[in-house]
Amino acid sequence: GVTNENSHPHCDPTCKISIVHNGIIENYFEIKQRLMDAGNKFTSETDSEVIAHLISENFDGDLLATVRRVLPMLRGTYGLIVMHSDFPDLIIGARNGSPLVLGIGNEEMFLASDVIAFGPYVQKIVYLNDGEIIKIDQNDFSVTNVQRATIKKETQDLESDVADISKNGFEHFMLKEIYEQPESIKRGLAGRINFAEYTGKLGGLNMRDAELDAIKSVVIVASGTSYYAGSVGARMISDMARIPTSTEMASELIAKNIIVSPDTLYFVVSQSGETADTLFAMRELKRKGARVLGICNAVGSTIARESDGGVYIHSGPEIAVASTKAFTSQITAFAILALIMGRGRGMSIADGDRLIKYLAAIPNAVEHILTLDKLICNIAKKYSSCKNFLFMGRGICHPVAMEGALKLKEISYIHAEAVAAGELKHGVIALVNPDTPSLFLVPDDELRGKNISSMKEVHARGGKIIVVTDIDDPEINAIADDVIIVPKTDRELTPFTFVVPMQLFAYHMANILGREIDQPRNLAKSVTVE
Ligand code: F6R
Repeated sequence: GVTNENSHPHCDPTCKISIVHNGIIENYFEIKQRLMDAGNKFTSETDSEVIAHLISENFDGDLLATVRRVLPMLRGTYGLIVMHSDFPDLIIGARNGSPLVLGIGNEEMFLASDVIAFGPYVQKIVYLNDGEIIKIDQNDFSVTNVQRATIKKETQDLESDVADISKNGFEHFMLKEIYEQPESIKRGLAGRINFAEYTGKLGGLNMRDAELDAIKSVVIVASGTSYYAGSVGARMISDMARIPTSTEMASELIAKNIIVSPDTLYFVVSQSGETADTLFAMRELKRKGARVLGICNAVGSTIARESDGGVYIHSGPEIAVASTKAFTSQITAFAILALIMGRGRGMSIADGDRLIKYLAAIPNAVEHILTLDKLICNIAKKYSSCKNFLFMGRGICHPVAMEGALKLKEISYIHAEAVAAGELKHGVIALVNPDTPSLFLVPDDELRGKNISSMKEVHARGGKIIVVTDIDDPEINAIADDVIIVPKTDRELTPFTFVVPMQLFAYHMANILGREIDQPRNLAKSVTVE
């Protein structure tokens, strides 16, 4: 439960030892049972509290040595910080599976799970790796491991944009981040187009052209919004480079015994670079011999460091829990990848040229969509009493519909279900009624006719219809109750222009309903537990 008793820090029975723990202790129950049998009293329902009790039980006057002895007794994951009130100038930290980073400021040091927490107070950082223990005293820090070996750590400069975190006049970080997209997409494209050869360039892949050309299939692994960005990326790579590409949810990949093939290239996608499911999936793939590249936003994050190379999306710090600009930056990276892989195979100069021109025009197209904000806000007002929504898209717009539904769910708490439009008639149509609006994504491509047929099925059953489209089409206008027209782009790039209205729709819906937009209930920005 979310209670004062369950919040950190947790203490030992003498209240001298305090700990803060991020992660999950899998064997806490047996430890707690044993300690309770020995007479210990616990004040919280957490697994974390057993750590403080265990340290207390084993304490021999040397906090570092005690923590080092206790860690092997814990099964699970931790980013852990320990203090003892008799040693006020000493902090011990330890990491296994959950992030921990040291921030060094002006005569002060901090430990956190994410560099974003440091704000302007820190200039240098040191990332800890799994199995490492840090000791901080008044003057310095030192890092060792459980076997007591000293580990020399590199200090890095903290990226300046991490220190500059403000809402910049916007009511919420989420809205600010939606409005940053023209710039963040531009940053993701900067220096990554090779105009002379009609292709892209990505320095961090650590792969020679010949190695890229030898790839026979691609698998993209991620969670949540990053998974939907990966699903868009999979379609871009399959369509443009003609390489069979599939996606795996990270949590599902860990749940099965995945077959790794040497000709397959694996990408893990993560804004934070710390999502436990994605990190563990990456480690499992690497253990099986796969080459795994990362597509990350957080520079220096665990996934970025442990992958075999990859791409930084450069969208800048994303503070709102609901991911927006990271999604468009992730698909920017995938568009460039698809261009590189496509041009290495059958993609013509003309197709490469066309794609580059449309890609370069995306920031302006998004800028235009932001001018539709008021219209989208009014549409949200009109439907704000609805309790259920359907989101429908086909082809590359199907994962975009899933992303739109996820955005609405997580910040407005309205139930939304995304359906591949063609699947509607196979069962979901039973849900259509005048109180359940459907939001259709209808680009002007070869699937438009089929999408209009699905709209007609909904219309005939009294369902209200909101359409995002890139064409002023009388047939669409006749059936739809509300239409949002976005600028036209290349058919592979429609996810950029179709996702932004849905981000704004979810935002306004949540705002109208008075929700905690930047920190929705039950959610955390980086999910560092499995
Ligand atoms: C949704 C959202 C989550 C994350 C997911 C993966 O708005 O933010 O679904 O996308 O938890 O997080 P990253 O990308 O940090 O691995």
